[in-house]
This record gives sequence, structure tokens and C-alpha cells, in this order.
Amino acid sequence: MRNAYTYISLLLALVTSPIFAQNEPRTAVDFNHSWKFFPGDEPTAKAPDFADADWRTLNLPHDWSIEGQFSEQHLSTTQEGALPTGIGWYRKAFLIPVSSKTKRVFIEFDGVYRNSEVWINGHRLGIRPYGYSSFRYELTKHLKFGSEKNSIAVRVDNAAQPNSRWYTGSGIYRNVRLVTTSKMAVAQWGTFVTTPTVTSQKAQVLAQISIQNPLGRVKDGRRSDGKPETVDVISTVLDAAGNKVATQTSSSVQLTDTLTTIAQQFDLQNPILWSIEKPYLYKIITRIYSQNRLEDTYETPFGIRYFKFDSATGFSLNGQPMKILGVCLHHDLGALGAAVNRRAMQRQLELLKAMGCNAIRTAHNPPAPEFLDLCDEMGFLVMDEAFDMWKKKKSKQDYGLNWDAWHKTDLEDMVRRDRNHPSIFMWSIGNEIREQFDSTGITITKELADIVKKLDSTRPVTSALTENIPEKNFIYRSGALDILGFNYKHEAYGDFPKTFPNQSVIASETGSSLQTRGHYDMPSDSVRMWGKGGPAKFRDGNPDWTASAYDNEAAYWGSTHEQTWKVIRKYPHMAGLFIWTGFDYLGEPHPYPWPARSSYFGILDLAGFPKDVYYLYQSEWTDKPVLHLFPHWNWPKGETVDVWAYYSQADEVELFLNDKSLGIRRKNGDDLHVMWRVSYEPGTLRIVSRKGGKSVLTRTVSTAGKPAKIQLIADRNTLKADGKDLSFVTVNVLDEQGNLVPDANHLITFGLKGSGTLAGVDNGYQASLEPFKANYRKAYNGKCLAIIQTTDNTGTISLKATAEGLQSAVVELISK
Ligand code: GAL
Repeated sequence: MRNAYTYISLLLALVTSPIFAQNEPRTAVDFNHSWKFFPGDEPTAKAPDFADADWRTLNLPHDWSIEGQFSEQHLSTTQEGALPTGIGWYRKAFLIPVSSKTKRVFIEFDGVYRNSEVWINGHRLGIRPYGYSSFRYELTKHLKFGSEKNSIAVRVDNAAQPNSRWYTGSGIYRNVRLVTTSKMAVAQWGTFVTTPTVTSQKAQVLAQISIQNPLGRVKDGRRSDGKPETVDVISTVLDAAGNKVATQTSSSVQLTDTLTTIAQQFDLQNPILWSIEKPYLYKIITRIYSQNRLEDTYETPFGIRYFKFDSATGFSLNGQPMKILGVCLHHDLGALGAAVNRRAMQRQLELLKAMGCNAIRTAHNPPAPEFLDLCDEMGFLVMDEAFDMWKKKKSKQDYGLNWDAWHKTDLEDMVRRDRNHPSIFMWSIGNEIREQFDSTGITITKELADIVKKLDSTRPVTSALTENIPEKNFIYRSGALDILGFNYKHEAYGDFPKTFPNQSVIASETGSSLQTRGHYDMPSDSVRMWGKGGPAKFRDGNPDWTASAYDNEAAYWGSTHEQTWKVIRKYPHMAGLFIWTGFDYLGEPHPYPWPARSSYFGILDLAGFPKDVYYLYQSEWTDKPVLHLFPHWNWPKGETVDVWAYYSQADEVELFLNDKSLGIRRKNGDDLHVMWRVSYEPGTLRIVSRKGGKSVLTRTVSTAGKPAKIQLIADRNTLKADGKDLSFVTVNVLDEQGNLVPDANHLITFGLKGSGTLAGVDNGYQASLEPFKANYRKAYNGKCLAIIQTTDNTGTISLKATAEGLQSAVVELISK
């Protein structure tokens, strides 16, 4: 509820805003604008007076790798995406107001890949090897105030290759902020909110608040003038509508150390619980006063929920049994590379939500903080993962080299940064760690679990394991894991209650099945496992580096989608699964070598177009009626074509070719799809699903004629003029009748006018070597994608797509 006081302060804020802003106890400003960038090493650039006028000007987040050209020369292994890496420098000049002289000023980086080194006005602040950690430096004592310019320089070194098993991106690829606080303020990630007891009538909320006091100012709880340093801490809990629901005051708290932690407890009546369906968020506003002067205001969003793993019955959230229906995601955003963009992540999550997915595993590293905010807001559970390797490396130049010096800091920082997110329900200390195979696994697992538990004992610790013979798995034998995560091994799930008695298990990674969108090989009813016992290598694959989109190809260590889902569905003791992966990602183009350069594992392709299996999950994971028919209907006459359908909320489906019935099919037993083997003739396939004799849904696929025109479909037509917002425009190549031409591969050229830029183009083809930053793209299997980004200027944006022999198309957007 807004009261008179709020209105007066709002009015005051409006009238006095510049001065008011300076007097704010804490400001956190976007520090992404107008950096200078140099692609290469320039050691003298750390000097404050270095002349960078001819360097490129850009806004962060920035990933220089994604701007490059694919080349075999960039391949240190096939796994990292074949884009350039190397060293880069960033510089920025900025002013700090005189009013900040009495404050503390920090620069916060959400993530820099990798080995970043930072200088302020020529003073070196530090180095941070791990490219996925968030960190900050205090600038205060090196700053110049008023009209004198400050200079910050960042060297990013991603030269030593290979250092990853997937595409990492290079540069300051996540957001940067400048944070100004009073001397006395809540520490970095300085609050920890837990909910020790939750019922539908009442929730107990506990906030631990760490307050920092400048070094040297406090000795034995006394200031330099000998008086005890005390503060009043007032915290208010607000519901999602902004109503105050509880307040606590801690008066005359003595700050006896440079960091003092206090606890405040709140009792909330009739709390609204956070859930997948209703991701309800509260927040706590904490204010710190010293002698009645406001020193800090700090906001902590949180959610109220409880969950339980049960070794026999699986997982429940707020007392409701549910399966974890998850996917693993790497951090790249397709054509945008690793450069963080909130809308791009939100679109990925929207597509997954519509499929019925309810959980994400952040493979295999801490994600961008905005990703977790989105999961909190949209209702996804998150398995937050720290590492892909420990001390024993997986790639020659990887983080294993930094392990001894950094793992404690990196793991602590992940837990501190992320532990207020209601979406996070598990901490994963590693993926397929090599130490699981020897006794060092015991010590390290115990050490890591202990680091996590000291900072958060409310969530279980897991690790994604591969060795499922208990005696041979030293991570398991450490006894320090709360939940066992197993990658693959779906045939063993049934035995787990015997092999791992009284242990909760989740399938931390499944599938690794392979598809290229819109590509179909006949016949479809035999399974190809790539590697052991299957086609030995790529030479047995397709000459155009494609994998069939029927769900019948997989890496030999994995399974088809159906194989694993059937077992997970069957066993209540399996808490759920994380499919490898939600989206195709750059790098790891298993089983193909160059020129394949991105993965085949996604349920959606790199451009975000669903592959057919998307609808398999939608039919199993949502309540909405689903009917999906494939493949396309353009084949040589007389060819034998397998026609598949996924359906739900129906008893049967019937297929017609040119109005002639090809028969009724029903899923029997644990079937997940139905199939007809059809001798091809051109025309129209029509499928009808029926329940109780009444038709539920109808779908048709018709033989496409000659390619005639372009169709543009923007996922959003009204955008924000904030220089960040995106519209994803799907480009379809259609025939005269409006059918998608399933093999169209026209070169589409884009012309953009108005207040936007073309942020990237893609077509989802794993072996396309066209650049992502371009104003053209070939269609692949009838489709491609253009991503439009707004500028800071309002106005219209118009995208025109042209191609030889096709009628062009225009789409108009508004940016405001
Ligand atoms: C797993 C690994 C993943 C990815 C996947 C590909 O073993 O954990 O990172 O490499 O294989 O199938």
C-alpha cells in the first residue's frame, strides 16, 4: 500500500533527482556502455594515459569469438566451436562525483572468460582465472574525484587452448556494474535468507545479514575515537505486490569486526509458496542506520518453498510429488555467442516451459545471475553446477591448472552469490569428475561438500557421476553427497535401489541423442549408436554432416530420448532427469569432425527452432492436447517413408493420404509414438486425434511446390528501446500456397532500417560456416533466423528479407 510518505518521497525524488541520486546510500549503475576494445595483446594499455582513441568502441556484454569466422585454424580440438579465441583488452574512462569521496566504490563483473586482469588508474587490482565466476574489486583508494578522468583497463586472456570441452566465448561477456556504498554497508552477497519452517499457515523467514565496516576503522568494536560502533538494522518483508508483510528492527548492533553478521527472524502468516506453476517472490529491504543516518539500503528477493528427496518415491515440492523434468544447458545463446542477453535467455526458457520442462542444470558452470533471476520468476528448478573438472584436467589448458589456488574461492563465491534464489534446489560440485576413479575423490568431495555446507546447509549437494559400481566410485564412497547424480546408464536405473540402498538418485544427464532439424533418414525403426557397437566414426555418417530427426541416433554412451524417458517414467525412485541438452550449443559436434562445429544433442536447434522430439516431451510433460506429424511430404515418388506422430489427450490417431485412410494407430504399452510406413505419393497427409470417438486435433502436411516467397514472423513486435531488447524473426521459405519448402536453402539477404541493429543470424545447421554477424544467411531446410536488437532510440524498425527468385517480405517492429 502506498501511503502519503511514499508520495512525498517520490515527489522529492523527482524534484531533486540529480542531487538525490548522489545522496543515495547505495547505487548500482550499469557500467556496460562505451568501452574501448582491442583484439590482441597491448601490455602498455594498463597505463592510465594510454591513447586508445583508435580502438573500437562497444557496449558490454561482449564476446569477440562470436564475431569471428569459423576456421579449421581455430580448432585446437573439435570441441570448442572453431571460432577465434586469443587475448583482448578493454578500457573505459569515467568520472566519479566528488560526493563519492566519503563512499566506497566497487566494480562488479558477473563473468569474464577468462584470466581477466584489471587495473584502475594503472594500479593492478587482481586476476581471476575462472571464466564463470562473478567478482568485484574495490576502486576507492585509487580513484580521482570530480572532473579528472579515471581509467579502467581489463586484459582478457583466452589464448591457451584447449581449455574447455565446449564453446566458451571470449571477453567481458557478462554484465558489469559500478557500485557505490557508504562505508558501513551490507557486504557483497551479504544476505542469506532461509525459511526454516513452512506450512500453509505460517512461514518462518530467517535473514542473516553481514555488515561490513571499513578496514582499520574498527578495533575491538571501537572506532578510532574510542566509541563503540553501533548501527540500527531495520528489515521489511514485502510481498510481490509491494505490501509490507513483516518488519524487524535490530537496535544498537555493535560492529565488532570488519564483518559482522546479525540474524533477523520474521513470521509470515498464510505465505504464498514459490512453485513451478506460481513462482511467487517476496523481498526483504534492509536498511542500516548509524546515528539515525541511513547508511545502506539493500534488497534481497527470495521465495518460500520446501522440498524433499525420498529414496523410494522421488522428489516433492511443497508436499506435492513431482518428477524433475529437466534439461542441461550450456551458456551460449547461439548466434549471440556467450554475450549475455536477458531476453535471449528468457526466450530459451519460454520455449522450454511450453514443452513442459520444469528444471535446468547449468552445465557445467555457474550461470549468469540474470539466468537465475529468470528461473526464479518463471518457475524453474535449478541444479547450480560449479565445475567440469577438479584438479585432474580434461583439456590441456583448463581450470585444472588453477584448481589448487582457486577452487575454494570459486565455489564459495558461487554459493554466496546464488543461495537466495528459490529456484536452486541442488548444488552440484562437478560433472563426470575424473577423481571419482581414485582415492583422491574421497578427500576432494569431502572438502567441497564442506565448503558448500558451511555456506548453505539447506540444499543437498550432488555431483554428476558416471561410475555406477559403488566400490569403484570414490566420490560416492566419500559419503559426502546427499543426492547421487548419474549421467546416462539408463539400463541400471531399475537396480539403483539395490546398488545404492536408501540413496536418492537423479539422472543428472541423459540421452545425448542426435538430430538435425528437418532432416530424415529412412528407415526410422533401427537405432544408430555412434561409437561403440555402432557406426565407428563419422565416415559412416551422412556426407552433409546431418543426423536424422527421427529419435533414433545417439552417442554410444547415451540413448534415444524415448529409451531413457520410458525408464525414468517407470521408476518412482528416480527423482527425475536432465536431458543432454535443451538447445544445441556451439562446440562438441559429436560424432562429426570439421566442418561440423556445433552440437546435435539439442531438443531445439541452435537457432531455437524445435526439432520433432520437442513434441514428444510436450505430449508427455504437459496437459495440453498435442498432435505432431512428421516428416515433411516432399519425397521421390514411390519412396518408402516412415510417418511418425506424437500425440496426447486422445485414444487414437488416424492418418489419411489424399483423404484415403492409412489406418488407425494407438500407443500400446509404453509406446511414445506411432508410425505408418507409407509408399510416397504427392499430396496431403492429414492426421486426426480422437478421444471417445470425438476428434480432438487435426494436422496436415502437404507436398510443397516451387519456392515462391519469404515469410517473416517476429516473436515480438513491440520492443523496449534500451539497446538490449531483442526480436527473434523466423524466416520461412514458402511455396505459392503457403507450405514450407522443406529443403529450401536460399541465400536470404536482410536490410534493416530504423532504431535497431541486426544482432545475429542463424539457421540451426550444425555444419554451416557462415558467420553469425552478417546481413545474410542461407535458409536451411526451409528456415533461418534474424535477431534484431534495439538501440537506445525509440522508433520503428523495419526488416526486409530478399532472395533471388522469391517474393521478398518485410516486418515492422516498434521500439519504445
Ligand atoms: C557427457 C558430458 C557432457 C557432454 C556429453 C555429450 O558425458 O558430461 O558435457 O560432453 O557427454 O554426450
